[in-house]
Amino acid sequence: MSRRRTVHRCRDCGTSTPRWAGRCPACGEWNTLVEEEVIPNPQASPASPASSPLLLRDVDAAAAEPRPTGVGELDRVIAGGLVPGSVTLLGGEPGIGKSTLVLQAMAAVAYRGGRCLFVSAEESPQQVRRRALRLRALVPNLWVVAETSLPAVMAAIDEINPDVLVVDSIQTVVDPALDGGPGSVSQVRGCAQALVGLAKSRPLTTVIVGHVTKEGTLAGPRVLEHLVDTVLAFEGERHHALRLLRATKHRFGPAGELGLFEMTDEGLLGVADPSGLFLADRREEAPGSAVFPAMEGCRPLLVEIQALTVQSALSMPRRSASGLDAGRLALLAAVLERRAGVALAGQDVYVSAVGGVRIVEPGADLAVCLALASAGLGIALPPDLVVCGEVGLAGEIRQVRQTPRRLAEAARMGFRRALVPTSAAMADAPLWPTGVRTLAEAVAMVADAPSVSL
Ligand code: TYD
Ligand code: MG
Repeated sequence: MSRRRTVHRCRDCGTSTPRWAGRCPACGEWNTLVEEEVIPNPQASPASPASSPLLLRDVDAAAAEPRPTGVGELDRVIAGGLVPGSVTLLGGEPGIGKSTLVLQAMAAVAYRGGRCLFVSAEESPQQVRRRALRLRALVPNLWVVAETSLPAVMAAIDEINPDVLVVDSIQTVVDPALDGGPGSVSQVRGCAQALVGLAKSRPLTTVIVGHVTKEGTLAGPRVLEHLVDTVLAFEGERHHALRLLRATKHRFGPAGELGLFEMTDEGLLGVADPSGLFLADRREEAPGSAVFPAMEGCRPLLVEIQALTVQSALSMPRRSASGLDAGRLALLAAVLERRAGVALAGQDVYVSAVGGVRIVEPGADLAVCLALASAGLGIALPPDLVVCGEVGLAGEIRQVRQTPRRLAEAARMGFRRALVPTSAAMADAPLWPTGVRTLAEAVAMVADAPSVSL
């Protein structure tokens, strides 16, 4: 007699344990373990069943060449395009523009002759058509099927035999052979496993759309990450037009590139001049603003860092960071106070990277510190200044990689001077760099800013 075998799987991290527990042994979250049936892996090895060893140099490289989708910013993020037979997971909050992005990408592929099948498990064909009309995506070779049942989806794939398949979204597809309702861990994993098995055996280029909430809690994308080749995160403030696309995992190339889109009435448009966009609303004469030449992948991007300090009514003053690491901000506030004499003890401190970008490089340290010092002193920085440097615990200013590229972008955008680590103040810079050794020196320059002629 065959017995149903079950495990308990964490909704957050996907770890399985034979016995139930109140807390996940791997990630430590409470009440996230749910019982699920063990599904025999339909495709233990993703390669074809009769694959025999090859000499490494004889392996056909062309088969794994990326094929451009034609959506430039998407192709940039996935190192050239979608690799045939690969599986990509596109995750993001509801309403951010996932369906719009996949429809535009499929239309671009279909327009050039690729057969595309859009499985719409959330919207009717009429709704998809209406959206496609708006996106100018009513092209030949693009099929749509509104199905939520996995066997029906498989039948549609057999009928159309597409080159590219998009399933929107994995949380609404169900396999009647599995336990659980739509969106449950067992359904999401089971359906995704079946799609991955199919993608590798046909081969069929597959994009799976998944919803994530801000905390990344919804069952789905987190438990799927290790099944797929590429994980894309689509982010942005829903109330602003800017959208950011990044690869958090990519098996076919570097994963550091950032794709930038603007949501318009005619869908997502690639942003041609991101620096210009990020600086568009800047008030140059306001204290508490510093411009940091960031590197996003291999693209320089000028980002305004804003700071505000205000007398705190709390016993533990607030340290609030948006688009920056909160731990790093607390550290920089401490260094500012201790090494540069900027009194922040009784002050609430707010710092943000403008435009919805997330700046994680330590190269932004000096810009954060000077924005804070400028806010605290009520003195604006020179409007044509960019600031770049990592701050050490001793208050020393350290080097930042690719400073020349960053300064070139600043010069292109009309900036004429830069505060940089002493070692990076080269003579042939495209603008006028001033080297600083310590944070105290840099803060003294801010205090003197009004008397410095521009
Ligand atoms: P959608 O792609 O449906 O988001 P998701 O699939 O991630 O839930 O798009 C969401 C929003 O985008 C929706 O509120 C309407 C807006 N939108 C535009 O502004 N312009 C457009 O051309 C389209 C198609 C959508
Ligand atoms: Mg959608």
